[in-house]
Amino acid sequence: MSCTNTNEMIKKANASIMYTTNRPDIVFEKGKGSYLWDLNGDKYLDMIQGWAVCCLGHCAPVMQKALREQSELLINPSPSYYNVPAIELAELLTSISCMDKVFFINSGAEANEGAIKLARKYGSKYKNGAYEIITAKNSFHGRTLATMSASGKEKWKDIYAPKVDGFIWAEYNNIDDIRKNISDKTCAIMLELVQGEGGVIESEKDYVKEIRRICDENDILLIIDEVQTGIGRLGTMFGYELYDIEPDIMTLAKGIGGGVPLSAVLAKDRVCCFEAGDQGGTYSMTPIATAVGLSVVKEIIDKDILSNVNEVGSYFRAELDKLVDSYKIVCGTRGKGLLLALAFEGADCSAIQAECLKNKLIINSPNKNTLRFMPALNITKEEVDECIAILRSVLDKFN
Ligand SMILES: Cc1ncc(COP(=O)(O)O)c(C=O)c1O
Repeated sequence: MSCTNTNEMIKKANASIMYTTNRPDIVFEKGKGSYLWDLNGDKYLDMIQGWAVCCLGHCAPVMQKALREQSELLINPSPSYYNVPAIELAELLTSISCMDKVFFINSGAEANEGAIKLARKYGSKYKNGAYEIITAKNSFHGRTLATMSASGKEKWKDIYAPKVDGFIWAEYNNIDDIRKNISDKTCAIMLELVQGEGGVIESEKDYVKEIRRICDENDILLIIDEVQTGIGRLGTMFGYELYDIEPDIMTLAKGIGGGVPLSAVLAKDRVCCFEAGDQGGTYSMTPIATAVGLSVVKEIIDKDILSNVNEVGSYFRAELDKLVDSYKIVCGTRGKGLLLALAFEGADCSAIQAECLKNKLIINSPNKNTLRFMPALNITKEEVDECIAILRSVLDKFN
């Protein structure tokens, strides 16, 4: 029942896919590296890569190989039994991070749910039932009920009431607001080192180091949400390496699966206090997903992809800086590695994003004043040049 006509497909989509967001009338059919092709055969330069997910580009050969080989061996023996790729990936992740143990699941939100549960369990076991978690205003931690409650998004304040109790939003990069909100009920502080969905806002190093100190002093757990910043996005394997701190709990998703659903909660041994049955999930540590994760992380290490992130990231940032000089509406650049943003004043970035799409460039506008770039970590300078050329041709129309 194949149908390659875009209009017919869109008609079918409108009739059968539940409405949750506005999508353009494009149906993607295939991808390779930094490019996507739609049903009409049109080619797009993709600077969002499945939402910072396809870190090796679309359909990376190492991932295809891992999927092929693992699918012939074992897809899912149930989470009640060990399997080889899950053990190997857990061993690799603990050997390259400051963490001791790993729990695998599917999405960033689920990993953060796991981190929240672990912190609450720690609070109930060792801190007199402390359960409150301080998060940051403008933060994003996912779309389950608890992670929506944790996320400091003003827009979500009243949605799906009642909220999950126990989350306090503190001003980002304001250490006094953290101090003010700490009480004997606090079990954890949960933080993104760069607020990605919030518009690529970096946390200050002194702020993060002081949070670490406060956590140590008060036996409060520091949860770092590295769903977007982890697995090389900022130019180090994990974002915390740039801040000279070690979290007690870290969550990973997005890049770790290279496009396949996989996420992880990592924790220090002293924090791992789950008892049998406290945490789980049918799709926890499936060999099909963890085999892919293993291939992705190994490829990043073996091919020294982090050097590319740093080199091409600096080049990209410098090219974006030139746009600040060229266009009145462009007022700055932000970000680290290959999580970059262009800041605007007096523009509507969703209109700029839409115009880029017409010109076959896929970028993201997390808010009215920001364009965000989260390309494949192996993107080339030539592909950056292509992106900048399209952006310039679009910005010429908006300035
Ligand atoms: C920092 C952060 N945490 C959590 C999430 C949620 O991840 P997922 O959409 O895989 O549930 C995201 C997604 O963008 C994110 O950026």
